[in-house]
Amino acid sequence: MLVLAIETSCDDTCAAVLAGEAGTVTLLSNLVSSQLIHEEYEGIVPELASREHLRLIGPVVSRVLEQAGVDLPALDAVAVTSGPGLIGSLLVGLSLGKALAYGLGIPVIGINHIEGHLAAAALEFGADRARPPFVGLVASGGHTEIMLVSEWGRWSLLGATRDDAAGEAFDKVAKLLGMGFPGGAAISKAARAGNPEAYAFPRAWLDLDGGGLDLSFSGLKTSVKLFLDEQDWPERPADPVQRARFVADVAASFEEAVVDVLSRKLWKAVEKAGASRVVVAGGVAANRALRQRLVEGAAERGLELEIPSPPLCGDNAAMIGMAALQRLQRGECSSYDLAAIPNLDDWTGHYQQTAP
Ligand code: KG4
Ligand code: ZN
Repeated sequence: MLVLAIETSCDDTCAAVLAGEAGTVTLLSNLVSSQLIHEEYEGIVPELASREHLRLIGPVVSRVLEQAGVDLPALDAVAVTSGPGLIGSLLVGLSLGKALAYGLGIPVIGINHIEGHLAAAALEFGADRARPPFVGLVASGGHTEIMLVSEWGRWSLLGATRDDAAGEAFDKVAKLLGMGFPGGAAISKAARAGNPEAYAFPRAWLDLDGGGLDLSFSGLKTSVKLFLDEQDWPERPADPVQRARFVADVAASFEEAVVDVLSRKLWKAVEKAGASRVVVAGGVAANRALRQRLVEGAAERGLELEIPSPPLCGDNAAMIGMAALQRLQRGECSSYDLAAIPNLDDWTGHYQQTAP
């Protein structure tokens, strides 16, 4: 089976071609075109994102097919992210995906972006290693969710952020430190030279001991901002050496707070669910300190842990294609009038059992 996958839920215009069944998948080509236009605004501007998707999606899909050596008529299905995400961005990919599938007379399948992030682990490590049931953590610029995946495509939410996503907090603190956008990777890099215990930033535990699995990162971000204001940042420290040390210590202490909360919430979820396997994905899962903490924690607890390699943690269409293969294998697809769903709330009726 040959699947073209399209992902345009946020600010990356992505397409991929996958061949095979869910058990044995070959990634033939995978392109991610990250939109640079948002850098000057230090954040994603939704209207600009959808216009950029419109400009880029045609060339990206053409090139991904060319690289895979696949002509449109050879395709068996089109997979496309149908939510959650920015509505204008989602509509670009979804409209193209539905139109292509309809024109070719093949099934279209709408994929939940969060489910897609977790499927990256099955694509990279094989369906056996990343096999449900498992507890999944998706931490990205728009999402921080902990879920129990009973089988591929069947999951329930255990906890989610009540305000900022983990990646959003990274991006906002990076902006305060003058590191540009998106700034997660820059914080992570600066943190390597810093002391994670230099400053005690707060952790929002939200009744962790009582089993609370929701998360919150906006208080942490605000506390970093207040601290920087108190220190007279960015005027001081003026000395370049002290300045570099200060930035590294703030980055490391902030990162430590995020890693602490994400890892402890995840272990609590695993304990509550009685799970023995864990899958972690999303852009923030590329973070070195988080990966290291999770690897150590999983080893201590005797858990199997799968985290995709950094390029497959961030947004991409290969993960969407993988999630689609899992659903297609069960005979599921979507209708050609499928609507985009910008939030995580109501996904009932998104799939039907018979091919159109
Ligand atoms: O999954 P993703 O590519 O897009 C969304 O679905 O949002 O995640 C992007 C997020 C951004 O907030 C970015 O700053 C963050 O992931 N990120 C990181 C790292 N690399 C990317 N955060 C922390 N450490 C990193 N190394
Ligand atoms: Zn994402």
